[in-house]
Amino acid sequence: MRLVLVGPPGAGKGTQAQFIASNLSIPKISTGDIFRANVSGGTELGKLAKEYMDRGDLVPDEVTIAMVRDRLSEDDAQDGFLLDGFPRNVPQAEILKKMLAEFGVALDIVLELVVDEDEVVRRLAGRRTCSQCGRIWHVDFDDKKDDICDACGGSLYQRDDDKEETVRRRLEVYQEQTAPLVSYYAEEKLLVGVDAAGPVEEVTQRAMDALAPYAD
Ligand code: AP5
Ligand code: MG
Repeated sequence: MRLVLVGPPGAGKGTQAQFIASNLSIPKISTGDIFRANVSGGTELGKLAKEYMDRGDLVPDEVTIAMVRDRLSEDDAQDGFLLDGFPRNVPQAEILKKMLAEFGVALDIVLELVVDEDEVVRRLAGRRTCSQCGRIWHVDFDDKKDDICDACGGSLYQRDDDKEETVRRRLEVYQEQTAPLVSYYAEEKLLVGVDAAGPVEEVTQRAMDALAPYAD
């Protein structure tokens, strides 16, 4: 299956991506994760991306698109993939469509995680990520009292862009640039909305039910 997850910051894209990709045995490709790995590795790409990420703005399209093209050319992405965080504006979506057509394939479905703004702010304020395995936790909803990952024992960290003013900017950027993508995919007849409120496992179940008709 070739699938895109879309939704505002904090909707649970990364959280759901880890379960959906594993259930479907497809790679999870998160542009945010790739940028963060480059920032912590101190690469040139990381230095460039960090400037934009720290402000809550999008990294320029040409940089992001070249990175995604490379990743989608890898062997493990040839039979399907889950994209988390890409595309996030209409020009990226149009280029993705052309890129996949060059490979002789197309998207099967775009899953929109629908959740209100108060809830995303609550989710982002308590998010912690494992520095070792990348698993995403929440201090309250997962009752995390220590900063240790229950999955692998790694140490948890708080993302630099989860500061209040950066979160505000990321939400603005979502409304300005990413929300139009939802209408774009509705017109392309690829969009399916999933209610992303409630416990993580329930959201995963709703997502898997929505994806069932598209499974190979
Ligand atoms: P990116 O990493 O993609 O961030 P984002 O879109 O802002 O989304 P988040 O990762 O913040 O939220 P999420 O939906 O994944 O939520 P999560 O599952 O973690 O992008 C970061 C930056 O990189 C961008 O600002 C930009 O600069 C750059 N970038 C990335 N892609 C780009 C692109 N294509 N073009 C240009 N620039 C790009 O969940 C959040 C919290 O909620 C967690 O604590 C989790 O435990 C909790 N939670 C999740 N689900 C539930 C639930 N059901 N109940 C209770 N808690 C829950
Ligand atoms: Mg994420």
